[in-house]
Amino acid sequence: MIKFVNVNKNYNNGKVIALSNINLTIQQGEFISIVGRSGAGKSTLLAMITLEERPTTGKIFIEGQDITKIKQSDAFYLRRKIGVVFQDIKLLPARTAAENVGFAMEVGGIPGNTIERDVPKILELVGLKDKLDAFPHQLSGGEKQRVAIARALAHKPALLLADEPTGNLDDINAWEIVQLLLKINQFGTTVLLATHAVQLVNKIQKRVVTLEAGEIMYDQEKGKYLL
Ligand SMILES: Nc1ncnc2c1ncn2[C@@H]1O[C@H](COP(=O)(O)OP(=O)(O)O)[C@@H](O)[C@H]1O
Ligand SMILES: [Mg+2]
Repeated sequence: MIKFVNVNKNYNNGKVIALSNINLTIQQGEFISIVGRSGAGKSTLLAMITLEERPTTGKIFIEGQDITKIKQSDAFYLRRKIGVVFQDIKLLPARTAAENVGFAMEVGGIPGNTIERDVPKILELVGLKDKLDAFPHQLSGGEKQRVAIARALAHKPALLLADEPTGNLDDINAWEIVQLLLKINQFGTTVLLATHAVQLVNKIQKRVVTLEAGEIMYDQEKGKYLL
């Protein structure tokens, strides 16, 4: 489904090598933890898939299409198929959980009646069926991240990218978020989880790709965090 072929990414005119000779194939429906120390290249790897950053050299195929050939003005069409969640959760503070999800759907061009029907279902899926009308300041960190995940799922993406989604959460909330990502994966969504949380990754028991200084050091099925 996604294939990196000899991908290199430099920043600052080659002074920083963020990714080095990445070859990686991701099948539809996989759950992959992308692990490594801070600065290893995890976020850059995810940014290649959304075209927020572009490879310096190499190709990236999604469903057979070389996305590095997509113009920046057309990147919107690619991003529509991808859900993203980050450590830093940016919800609209003056809108409820339901409105935050609904607003994302509206922006994505989903019709009003579909939004009304789907928002409660999506929030139920993420375990927030009692919090539809809660504002962000009335939610815990874990709950806010669930709203962010619900929002990322609003347009039913085939691929969910989660960059350190548990970074600001305590261990229990972090594991609950990972369990939610696993549940979403069970419904068929491909999930890429970038994280440096060793304990979490070791509990997941799925494929682990380890980056070190921009290179893939290990790629293990049912892996552990090795470093
Ligand atoms: N926009 C940028 N400009 C310059 N250097 C960057 C930029 N983004 C990331 N880097 C550098 O690229 C390397 C990989 O960073 P990153 O992908 O953010 O790693 P990780 O997510 O694993 O912490 C680091 O050395 C980082 O400092
Ligand atoms: Mg990062």
